[in-house]
Amino acid sequence: MKQFISVKDVVNINALVKKALDYKQQPFMDKTLGANKRIGLLFLNPSLRTRLSTQVAAQNLGMEPIVFNVDKEGWALEFTEGAIMNGTTVEHIKDAAPILGNYFDILCIRTFPSLQDKEADYSERIIKQFIKYAGIPIVSLETATLHPLQSLTDIITIKEQMELSGSFKNKKPKIVLTWAPHIKPIPQCVPNSFSEWVNAWGEADFVITHPIGYELSTEYTNGATITNDQDAALKDADFVYVKNWSSFSEYGKVLCTDAAWMLTPEKLAASNNAKVMHCLPVRRNVELSDAILDGDSSLVTKEASNRVWAAQAVLAEIASSIQ
Ligand code: CP
Repeated sequence: MKQFISVKDVVNINALVKKALDYKQQPFMDKTLGANKRIGLLFLNPSLRTRLSTQVAAQNLGMEPIVFNVDKEGWALEFTEGAIMNGTTVEHIKDAAPILGNYFDILCIRTFPSLQDKEADYSERIIKQFIKYAGIPIVSLETATLHPLQSLTDIITIKEQMELSGSFKNKKPKIVLTWAPHIKPIPQCVPNSFSEWVNAWGEADFVITHPIGYELSTEYTNGATITNDQDAALKDADFVYVKNWSSFSEYGKVLCTDAAWMLTPEKLAASNNAKVMHCLPVRRNVELSDAILDGDSSLVTKEASNRVWAAQAVLAEIASSIQ
């Protein structure tokens, strides 16, 4: 693997999931694979899980991770070609990225969308310029449109749970992605990415449910069944993935705040004892009820813990390709 930006960089999803679950059993089995390799973790936005799990994963492989909060500690970066830099930006990506490429062996980047300019966000111009100018493997720690380490984690968590339950030997799981209320405009990257990965994995019946106006880009959802009837979607579900996102068509807008979309034990009763997932952070009793998060159906802590093994599997693949 030369980079990790989306599911398209993965040759065999099940093999990568197996590698991650092998690391969960034996975290230090490749503890010298990353010896003498430096990995830079650049954050243009806040993070708890992504930042810490990727550092732990790198250290498990013997790599030295260095974290840089560009948004707080670095110069303001300019990404526009030909910009006359007489405003707030101080350093052009064309100047900064090649230097980072010389300092590090692998560069990981976390960015968010503006949610103001759909064309700019969906062009993924920030990570694409790091790829163009850094000259070393780039790993996405979440970008404007996708969050592939989260989605790999989600497939790992679903596969792990399927193996534990033992009831999926002759049946595909029904996975439901449901929109949830939120007080702020939230990016589409997690639901885009989750949809892209579940569709590419191809081993589930996949249903997406959301209020009218919250249709995601068909680039990611093609292959899923889409409905505005949440109760119908939840019927017989094995896994329910809860997430808020802002509108794609009326870009970045909050069109619905209907609290009736929040998943509760009463709604979940129609499912097949479904396990509930969320990438975190979660706004309790807005996106998801306490009763769900603190109950037996919740996989959220296990899911967040599995971020380490997803990152370790990806970093190991990339480290092997640059030995
Ligand atoms: N799920 C996730 O990416 O969490 P952080 O924003 O804390 O990294």
